[in-house]
Amino acid sequence: MLESNPGFAPEIATHLSKVPILVTGGTGFIGSRLLPMLEQAGAEMTVLTRDPGRARRVLGESVRLVTDLPSAAATNPRAVVNLAGAGIADRPWTEGRRRLLLDSRVALTRGLRDALKGSPPDVIVSASAVGYYGTHADQTFTEDDGPGSGFAADLCRQWEQEAEAFADLGSRVLRLRIGLVLGPGGLLGRMKLPFSLGLGGRIGHGRQWMSWVHLDDVLGLIGRCLADDAMTGAVNATAPEPVTNADFTATLGKVLHRPTIFPVPAFVLRTLLGDMAEELLLSGARVLPQRALDSGYAFAWPALEAAMAAALGRSAGQP
Ligand SMILES: NC(=O)c1ccc[n+]([C@@H]2O[C@H](COP(=O)([O-])OP(=O)(O)OC[C@H]3O[C@@H](n4cnc5c(N)ncnc54)[C@H](OP(=O)(O)O)[C@@H]3O)[C@@H](O)[C@H]2O)c1
Repeated sequence: MLESNPGFAPEIATHLSKVPILVTGGTGFIGSRLLPMLEQAGAEMTVLTRDPGRARRVLGESVRLVTDLPSAAATNPRAVVNLAGAGIADRPWTEGRRRLLLDSRVALTRGLRDALKGSPPDVIVSASAVGYYGTHADQTFTEDDGPGSGFAADLCRQWEQEAEAFADLGSRVLRLRIGLVLGPGGLLGRMKLPFSLGLGGRIGHGRQWMSWVHLDDVLGLIGRCLADDAMTGAVNATAPEPVTNADFTATLGKVLHRPTIFPVPAFVLRTLLGDMAEELLLSGARVLPQRALDSGYAFAWPALEAAMAAALGRSAGQP
């Protein structure tokens, strides 16, 4: 089993004890940290995976593994955490890749609902992303805003639509619009090497927004959404202080004690990655976690420098 972070707050853990929970995408960056917390809370965990051998290695012995939807439904889950999906930023968005990105989320969520309709879960927390809002230079978005345009926005809208249809079955539905997650590995893991070599720099003009969130807060919000019956609908999983790419870059340089003088030119990214560069790297959106704040959720990592240092395993100010 992977190392656990401190775990859920006691009132959340109590709520999850002995609850049969189905997790899709449980072997991923977020899911593999969620499972130890569910285990600690005493939940009965099942993971739907395409590769049970790898899942066993990643998650250990205490998790039940299933590889198809009928077997997942047979566990009669009372709660579902739906995290599965092919990596958005792993490869350029060719036509084939777009189809896979859609099918691995939209079709999978639809199939999950069909499989569970005989005995629907009490609650489903289904991943989405801040890409839902599209990109904008200066507008601020909360959960009350509608979907934007572009491939990522369209994908999120369709993905959320499939999740929301669980409400017709009587489930409480949470659509978690996740920001750029900072944790061990992940986005920061990919950025660390060039920055450590002194080759880091802002992307393009650097004014694009980055709505980041620490992994601990994504996990904390998943726990809150599972356990708190008052939570429903869209929830932005982003920290309360989004930053521009230039500020993000400067902060990463500060935490790593490295210069950040080499901007990555926009045309290089556009040439290499096309739309994907435009939507994921060269533009962004300023997204605020209004619902989480209104619900009284206390962010473990509200400020970027400390969040980054923690994610990189450094204490702030440490050389
Ligand atoms: N990390 C972020 O910064 C971030 C930001 C916004 C939104 N999100 C969303 O949150 C969810 C979880 O994020 P994550 O970073 O933990 O993702 P991840 O590390 O890429 O893991 C996703 C999991 O989905 C499953 N998967 C991969 N390709 C698949 C396919 N073609 N068909 C079906 N399942 C597939 C895999 O599980 P198996 O191999 O076991 O099947 C994988 O472990 C994702 O859907 C992601 O889009 C993440």
